[in-house]
Amino acid sequence: MTNHALRAVDALFTPGARENPVPVYRELHAGGPVHRLNDEWVVVCGYAETDEVLRSPVFQVKDSEFRERTRPGWIAEHPSAAMIADSVIRARAPHHERVRGLLRRPLTSRRVAALREAALGHTRRLLDDLAARAVGGGPVDFVDGFAYPLPIALICDLLGVPAEDRTWFRGQAADLSYVLEPAGRERDLSRADAAASRLMEYFAGLIRERRERPEQDLISSLVQVSDADAGRLSERELVVNLALILAAGFETTASLLANGLAVLLDRPADRDRIARDPAAAAACVQEVLRYDPPAQATDRWATEDTAVGGMRIAEGTQVLLLLGAANRDPRRFPDPDVFDAGRPVGRSLSFGAGPHFCLGAALGRMEAEVAFKELFARFPAISLVGTPSRTERLALRGYVSLSVTLG
Ligand code: HEM
Repeated sequence: MTNHALRAVDALFTPGARENPVPVYRELHAGGPVHRLNDEWVVVCGYAETDEVLRSPVFQVKDSEFRERTRPGWIAEHPSAAMIADSVIRARAPHHERVRGLLRRPLTSRRVAALREAALGHTRRLLDDLAARAVGGGPVDFVDGFAYPLPIALICDLLGVPAEDRTWFRGQAADLSYVLEPAGRERDLSRADAAASRLMEYFAGLIRERRERPEQDLISSLVQVSDADAGRLSERELVVNLALILAAGFETTASLLANGLAVLLDRPADRDRIARDPAAAAACVQEVLRYDPPAQATDRWATEDTAVGGMRIAEGTQVLLLLGAANRDPRRFPDPDVFDAGRPVGRSLSFGAGPHFCLGAALGRMEAEVAFKELFARFPAISLVGTPSRTERLALRGYVSLSVTLG
């Protein structure tokens, strides 16, 4: 099985699988839930096994200490990798709990519910803009005109980034998110590095401003925490986590919107239900997340000898977790390749699990629920034009363009 699994996983990084990774996922499932690729790597596709690794204290995120041990000097050379390594998403206990506790507050379900009105306002404005662009019933690009601007507007509201900086911010965020790819290319990493440096400088400036003139936003409240006690949040932690929220929250939500529309374009009955019923919108968003998740993969490493799904895993082994495959594990989801918004709710792994479970899950879901409900109520006959084009990425799977007529 070893070479077979290696070939299958290699295939995931080819254009064909980026278009549609599902045949590879099926092939991996047929061979079992866990596969050894080589002495250094194991890949997990089973739902229960992925969930177990994400929750187990034996498996840890790749923090700066791990990176330094396995690739000495690499972090120092790459500002984007250093930024992510110092942020909550790669932090280990006890720093992880301390910083996560501070970042969680503005993203709780209650706080997110209060952002619903803002999401509705941005959605309606963006749909007006789309309609204005679709002169004479011509095509418009949903990705450029809606899927990207909506999450960036909400994250900027949340963080407190001035409206005039948003277009610039969007380009930086898109470049920075390349650092989250497990097999990132050097060319993309250089773009991420340049964006990281610019964003660090930008946030440092904004922090100085908010220190002098606080406002009702996340930057101001975190500056106050940090100034009162740097032991709770150092200046470096403040800056890197502001940039992380941008990187982790923007491209993912844009992909949820584009992946979701692509699926729903073929499903008028679901679109009609979403337009009429908020509960149907919520169920559909959950099924989109399972069926075509924006984050298809993440990774961990084993801090001691252990076993998962019957496979022995030695200390130091790196583990690629295929969230997109776990969501299509037939042992967990019957007929996994069928999109069924009426599926009895079963939690997908699209937001991860365990201590690093996505802090923005409620926000991402709420944005998509509001967006789809408004979009399909206003444009019930929205349809696809031409062939949409996928991003050339695995971990963050979305669309570069998705051309539609609004009907
Ligand atoms: C549909 C949209 C989203 C998806 C699919 C998504 C997916 C994920 C996943 C899979 C993880 C876990 C990574 C791992 O364990 O290795 C994660 C973590 C995280 N996400 Fe999201 N995310 C989304 C939206 C957001 C938003 C909107 C924000 C912030 C505003 C956000 C902030 C974070 C943060 C801070 C973490 C790290 C949490 C920690 O390490 O404790 N995400 N996300």
